[in-house]
Amino acid sequence: AKPIITIIGSLNTDLITRTTRIPAAGETLITSSYDTGCGGKGANQAVACARLSRKKGSAAEEAGCAVNMIGAVGDDMFGRDLINELVSNGVGVDGVRVKGGEKSGVAVIIVEEESGENRILMSPNANYALKPSDFESLPDPLPDLIILQLEIPLSTVLHILALAREKDVEVLLNPAPAAQLPREAYLAVQHLVVNETEASIITGTTTQTHSWALWGEHMERLIGLGVRHILVTLGAEGVIYLDTELQRVLRVLGEEVAVVDSTGAGDTFVGAYAGALAVSGKGCRDFPHVMHVVAFANRAAAKTVQRGGVQSAIPWRDEVSLESTLASAGSGI
Ligand code: RIB
Ligand code: NA
Repeated sequence: AKPIITIIGSLNTDLITRTTRIPAAGETLITSSYDTGCGGKGANQAVACARLSRKKGSAAEEAGCAVNMIGAVGDDMFGRDLINELVSNGVGVDGVRVKGGEKSGVAVIIVEEESGENRILMSPNANYALKPSDFESLPDPLPDLIILQLEIPLSTVLHILALAREKDVEVLLNPAPAAQLPREAYLAVQHLVVNETEASIITGTTTQTHSWALWGEHMERLIGLGVRHILVTLGAEGVIYLDTELQRVLRVLGEEVAVVDSTGAGDTFVGAYAGALAVSGKGCRDFPHVMHVVAFANRAAAKTVQRGGVQSAIPWRDEVSLESTLASAGSGI
């Protein structure tokens, strides 16, 4: 049977405006453009897993892994669109609940044109109605990998982590938006994907981070969490990957690209990494192989930032080159 990846997380409708600058208090500005799209970190990561494990236009059955989404939407038009979009990407939606009396999650995204940088106002709505009591047990058959973010209640995330640990199911945690988790939460996590801000918040490091400054105090604290695979995404500067068990470290350089909209780059990275690991069948024990997977995920994320939109910007597997150019890899961390 194919590996099963289950994403438990958020679904949002994204309301995206592009602007030359951010308005001041009391000011009204005319935007350059407006678009709506499907989003939410959970749904984006599910779509990334699905697209990056098969060719564009191919049937879902041709994907190298089965991708399922568990989450909650409201009983409204947004919710129906969010579910339909997942289905059209080949993501299983049996686990997406429709919560009566709730509105679907919404993210108001403001993209500054020149830099492609975003500011996001997220209203969780139905996502926060996904309670621990919605999970008496993990899905049957058990997934090979569960992917979690922090756009659903923390209590639900912690409950799922406990269930996964009990059943020995592998977990990838992307603690976004950043929040501190109790230390024991990390005992259930095998893959931790963070950007610089998330790295400093989850480790409780107050000093300002700037790319390579992450080395030293930050890295030591991250390693101290006890997670085997640690991936720090550095935006234009690429990715740092650590296998704390093999004591190996890898730096993948950033791709030089023109940024149109960086929203969803992290989600693409997570989905591409998980999907590519699953598809290859080699898993994450083989370091040379993981290096290529990390480089692939980095190139997939670079594609996303070059296109407008969020979920719609996520590339398919055949849109990302499978050839790796690895910057540097070494041992001893
Ligand atoms: O990571 C990007 C996502 O974060 C957007 O799709 C938006 O919904 C926000 O939750
Ligand atoms: Na984009």
